[in-house]
Amino acid sequence: MDKLIIQGGVPLHGEVIISGAKNAALPILLASILVDEPIVFHNVPHLRDINTTLNLLSILGCEAKFDERYLPPVPGRTVAAPAEHPGSGGVVRTQPCRLSHEAPYDLVKTMRASVLCLGPLLARLGKAKVALPGGCAIGARPVNLHLSALEKMGAEFELDEGYIYGKCPNGLKGAHINFDFPTVGGTENLLMAATLAAGETILENAAREPEVVDLAKFLIACGADISGHGSSIIKIKGVPRLKGTSYSIMPDRIEAGTFMIAAAITDGELLIKNCPIQDMEAVVLKLMDMGVKFEPKPDGILVSRDSHGLRGTEIKTQPHPGFPTDMQAQIMALMCTANGPSLVEESIFENRFMHVLELVRMGADIRLSGHTALVKGSSCLKGAPVMASDLRASASLVLAGLAAGGQTEIQRIYHLDRGYERMEEKLIPVGARIKRVKE
Ligand code: UD1
Repeated sequence: MDKLIIQGGVPLHGEVIISGAKNAALPILLASILVDEPIVFHNVPHLRDINTTLNLLSILGCEAKFDERYLPPVPGRTVAAPAEHPGSGGVVRTQPCRLSHEAPYDLVKTMRASVLCLGPLLARLGKAKVALPGGCAIGARPVNLHLSALEKMGAEFELDEGYIYGKCPNGLKGAHINFDFPTVGGTENLLMAATLAAGETILENAAREPEVVDLAKFLIACGADISGHGSSIIKIKGVPRLKGTSYSIMPDRIEAGTFMIAAAITDGELLIKNCPIQDMEAVVLKLMDMGVKFEPKPDGILVSRDSHGLRGTEIKTQPHPGFPTDMQAQIMALMCTANGPSLVEESIFENRFMHVLELVRMGADIRLSGHTALVKGSSCLKGAPVMASDLRASASLVLAGLAAGGQTEIQRIYHLDRGYERMEEKLIPVGARIKRVKE
């Protein structure tokens, strides 16, 4: 297992290029199941979860792999990014063969998003056997909303021996669905299923996340008839088939937000390139509130502290366009170093404060009470050995380590590799003293 060792206290200066968004790439790649022609995807991040998705697609009969000409640079080898986009950009090609309806536990257990193959399989094959994604470190995360919505479209489900068995012998039919909660994955599963269903589907209280919008844009590029994406009511008129296309995945707003905080927490200055700032209003406003400065430049956004020092603030995580739960752990690291207290309320996941105890080990003063964390601020963070517990918690520990005096050792960084493309390789050129070592 790898770990990261950081010698903190160095202000970061330079440029960082944001990669393609993991949370957009996962559903969009799985949507290939709906299409019976080859597809080319650009700006695909090189991440563990993406490799899992490509394996899953291949097992389901849709051959999917990175184009080797655009593999990430390795020491001693330089590879140019494809001309079509400015990111570090992987290119993935998918080629449908004979589809299978079975998504095995070995793959699904490592990545909850695998459940997003359920809607496409039902739409294409009329049946699906998908392992139930187990519990996950940040909460129970059931899929009841996905299943009940698909049932409204005519699907029937049985749960047996850890698998979801789904079938719709008469095909999926358009339906009017009102989600109890604007679930991101549920909206994506239904969006995909409805593109090939008979008639019109209306999704009410749908998720408005930019990654849902990117999925809708991809499906439209393949010939789907979708309107209202980005609002809470999405209308989908089923079409008989979808055609192949070439599509570039949107940049990752969570990675961009993490590097914005890296600039602020180290009192440095970073030019964030390929930054989807238009999708980051809640994060940018809160960071400005805390004393972070944003200057638009022709080739990116320059991020630094303003002249008044960092201040505390209050956040409550909410569905988009509210403050994203996926940025909660990272902004909490910044709050630890701000002058004055901050308050964090987590309203999306019930168990998403596992970074708190690790931050406390680094000298932070944080009081937890149910879904709320009171961050006292003004902490002089000190390096310590810490343990990553989930993806965004890992990022928060990297940020704290960059700001802390002395050495921080972060174990279990396989969590980080699920969602950040070569994070240390992006940090080293901007001055961070960080290295990956084998334990
Ligand atoms: C997606 C993101 C994840 C992000 C989350 C919220 C991907 C691959 N992952 O996860 O990074 O943190 O959105 O922005 O895009 N719920 C139910 N029943 C359901 C579905 C969800 O109770 O059927 C609950 C979940 O347990 C959770 C909340 O709803 O508490 C949010 O889940 P959801 O919006 O579905 O998030 P994901 O799609 O899992």
